[in-house]
Amino acid sequence: MEQRPLGNTGLMISPIGLGTVKLGRNRGVKYPGGEGFAIPSDEQVRELFRSAADLGVSLIDTAPAYGLSERRIGEIMHAQGWFGGRDRWVVCTKVGEEFDPEEARSTFVFTPEHVKMSVERSMRRLRVDVIDIVLVHSDGRDEWILRDSGAMDALREVQRRGLVRAIGMSTKTVDGGLSAVRRSEGACDVVMLTFNAKERAEGVVIDAARHRNVGVLVKKGLLSGHIAEVMGRMPPEIRAVTDDPIEASMRLVLGRQGVGAMVVGTSSSVHLTDNVRAAEAAMRV
Ligand SMILES: NC(=O)c1ccc[n+]([C@@H]2O[C@H](COP(=O)([O-])OP(=O)(O)OC[C@H]3O[C@@H](n4cnc5c(N)ncnc54)[C@H](OP(=O)(O)O)[C@@H]3O)[C@@H](O)[C@H]2O)c1
Repeated sequence: MEQRPLGNTGLMISPIGLGTVKLGRNRGVKYPGGEGFAIPSDEQVRELFRSAADLGVSLIDTAPAYGLSERRIGEIMHAQGWFGGRDRWVVCTKVGEEFDPEEARSTFVFTPEHVKMSVERSMRRLRVDVIDIVLVHSDGRDEWILRDSGAMDALREVQRRGLVRAIGMSTKTVDGGLSAVRRSEGACDVVMLTFNAKERAEGVVIDAARHRNVGVLVKKGLLSGHIAEVMGRMPPEIRAVTDDPIEASMRLVLGRQGVGAMVVGTSSSVHLTDNVRAAEAAMRV
């Protein structure tokens, strides 16, 4: 895949990122089939990362809230020498959400102390000296977190210390996304938001981010796997070009100027390959 700049972060990323929820957690998720799916084996994860490296997928998205995900990325990538070197990857993780697998419940902590602890813990789990992107994992109180929690200042401090390259927030609201982007000079280098066939309200945030050269990562671009619902919600101009829900979703998301990458969750090398091919077709227009 071509590599392209993520806003003004100085990072180069592939337009398709690899989302890794399913590598570490099978409870408290809303994927088709619900909870309890088989978490992929080490061999399957190794193949997934090998495929990503071969396909030029350089962006990996994880979080402490994705259960074993960070730890498995660190262990498997370390053992494989990061398939050609750590420098070829852009690793994004988060702070603020902690998931209890026994209770299948999340708790949220946005204090500066927690943010610093979490970043250092992620570095140990991922086995890296620096994390490329750290986002606050919002619980929906986007504006309060940005303004009053102290989390953004704590992230800026770890960034100054050289532990993190770019910082930002994974938002849940339009107003929060707009605030995150408006505060770009003081706070967010990157925003992660939802944009798909069914939920397009956050498109205005993409436009605002583009205007300010803030990096945009899109989550849930395939409706978290509810593919059957995609085409019925797709704008007619995209339906006129393709009836493939994956390619249509790529056209919708990657066709929106200002999007840096669509982070697609998968535990399947076959799906990752299909997604890269579909993205390339969508961007060939
Ligand atoms: N920060 C946040 O608050 C937040 C929230 C949600 C998500 N995220 C990030 O964004 C990523 C993407 O979101 P998401 O995982 O919820 O949803 P998504 O990317 O819209 O969809 C993932 C689902 O689609 C399936 N899928 C992927 N490629 C496919 C293909 N070619 N054909 C058929 N099915 C396919 C996957 O199953 P298979 O495993 O079978 O491929 C998985 O069930 C996450 O992994 C995570 O990294 C962040």
